[in-house]
This record gives sequence, C-alpha cells and structure tokens, in this order.
Amino acid sequence: MNKIPNSDKPKLAIITSGGDAPGMNAAIRAVTLKAIQNGYQVYGFIAGFHGIIAKDFIELNLQNVDNTIHKGGTILKTARCKAMYNSSGVKQAANSLNNLVIEALVVIGGDGSFKGAQALSEQWQGQLIGIPGTIDNDINGTDQTIGFWTAIDTALNCIDKIRDTADAFDRIFVIEVMGRDCGFIAMESGIASGAQQVICHELIENEPEFINQLLELIKEATKQSYPQSYVIVVAENALSFSTAELAQKISDYTNVDTRSAILGYVQRGGAPVAMDRVLATQLGISAVEAICANKTNIMVGMKKSEIIHFPLTDTNQKNITNQALIKRLEQFSFNLTI
Ligand code: F6P
Repeated sequence: MNKIPNSDKPKLAIITSGGDAPGMNAAIRAVTLKAIQNGYQVYGFIAGFHGIIAKDFIELNLQNVDNTIHKGGTILKTARCKAMYNSSGVKQAANSLNNLVIEALVVIGGDGSFKGAQALSEQWQGQLIGIPGTIDNDINGTDQTIGFWTAIDTALNCIDKIRDTADAFDRIFVIEVMGRDCGFIAMESGIASGAQQVICHELIENEPEFINQLLELIKEATKQSYPQSYVIVVAENALSFSTAELAQKISDYTNVDTRSAILGYVQRGGAPVAMDRVLATQLGISAVEAICANKTNIMVGMKKSEIIHFPLTDTNQKNITNQALIKRLEQFSFNLTI
C-alpha cells in the first residue's frame, strides 16, 4: 500500500480497466499532461479497480508518461475486477479513494469498466469521468473507442495474408475476429479486405435460416470462376457453434476446400495507429477539461468529429450500437451479400 505525499494540490487518479486497447497509454499521457498543466497531482492505480481497492498506485509525472504514446498495452496494467460486482468491493474502492483524498477519477475502459464506475458513483462523491477504450467499439454515445482503429488494421493485415493462401489454393476461408458480442471489427475489417461475407450476430434473426442461405450463396458463388478465393469474416460469438464447425459445414455443402482461422489476441496488441493516438489524446484532454468544468458521471466521446459529454449510465445500450452497425453495413451491400 502506497502513501500519497502531503500536497495542497487537488488529486486526480487514472485507471485502465477491462481488455487493454492500443492507445490507452496515449490517453494516460494526455490526461496526465493536461491535469498537471491545470494544477493537479496525478496518480495511476495499478490494474484497474484492483489497484484502487488495494491502494496500489504510482504518481504520474512528465517523466513517466514521456515516450509512451506509441506503446501498446497499458503502463498502468489492467484487470477485470470481480469485486466491483458486489457492494462490499465497491465500498472498499470508495473508502480507498476517500482515504487518499482523490477528487477525480478517470476510468479508461469499456462497458464493464463503466458499470464499475457507475457502481462507484453511488458510493463515492468524487468526480468520475469515463474515456472509451476498447477494441470492440461497442460503447453507446461515441462513434469510436480507443483501440478500435488499430485492431481493424491488425485484423486487416492478417486477413490480407490469409487471402494469399485462399487465392493460391482456391480455398474458402472463414476468419474469426474479436468483438466479444459486437460485430464492428468484423464489419470494418471485412469491408476493408473485400471479404465476400461478413457475419455478425446483429444481422442474424434466425440462425438455421441464415446458415442455409449462406451455404447456398457460397455454393452458387464458388461454382463460378469469380471469385477464385472466398473470404468470410465472422465476429466471435456471432454463431452458436464454432468457426471451425462453420468451415466444416461449408466444406461439406460446397465440396470446396474450406479452412478456418481465429485471429485472437494479436488484435489487442501493438503500437496504436495514428487515429487511435489522436483520439486518445483528444479524449484525454477533454476528460480533464470536463473535470475542471465540474462535470461528473459522464463519458467523453467523439460524435461526428465533435467531442461530446455523454451520461455514463447510457453507455451500455447495445440496441443502439447494433443499429449503428446495421446502418453502416447497408452502405456496403454491393459487396456483402448477407
Ligand atoms: O473487450 C475486448 C476483448 O478483446 C473482446 O473482443 C474479447 O471478447 C475479450 O476482450 C476477451 O477478454 P479476455 O482478455 O478477458 O479473454
């Protein structure tokens, strides 16, 4: 357990929580620099809410956030903290923040982290600001989340490479990308790679019917000489059975050699692309500006290239993010036949 040195300055703390996302370090850096500029003493709790409960933290200063903007992962470590799902854990976190005289907390993470933040706001009187950081882009109230652009690029790179093998062998490939229960990574990487199909749960009303249509469509398409390679990008958890099983079903139905690949955690790592660094920097600065303007229980997000403040309580409305995905996919229906 660390002790905060005596100081007259107000204290602001940062956590990164949930799945790490490229650009989290850029956000930590931006919050730190802006907060120091505004007279705050800045702390980073280690491993998300765990660090708050255990009072495990470091002071963040100009030196230790220097040279971090380009690094993947998070210098503050991260965790999914089960203790925040029960009131005794939340109370412990609130007590720690009170004991350490933290006035404002910036939570960089996804919907699970924002739920933790909301629970905390019921027991703690300090200012709470969320910054959306997750590769999944599944947060309502913002068009983009930190890490999404990098994850798409990573997935795209891998899909392009697999396409070479698909093309060389005239094979069908089913490629699974991340997204927990949201199809944004599948959709964007599918569009960018020219995939013949994108499968996400948001587009499926009746799975057996959907699969029958899909199999028929693929059989028809692969009878023709174009396209020679056939790539299907599928979001994880889109179907009730595995990606390998889908590949087997396609192979059985079409008689075309079909393979599967799961891209997995490569999508979470690596240096953030420029878009994620810029987004993280903008949102980090805005988070501190919101604190200085006495705001609390909000997420700072980006809507139509404008910074917005959005109630933390509304960030988890999946029906709205689902609709956004369907709307976006409709724009590309010339390519994606399902
Ligand atoms: O939320 C980001 C994410 O990478 C999801 O896409 C994925 O389903 C999940 O995290 C995996 O979580 P964990 O790291 O706990 O296995």
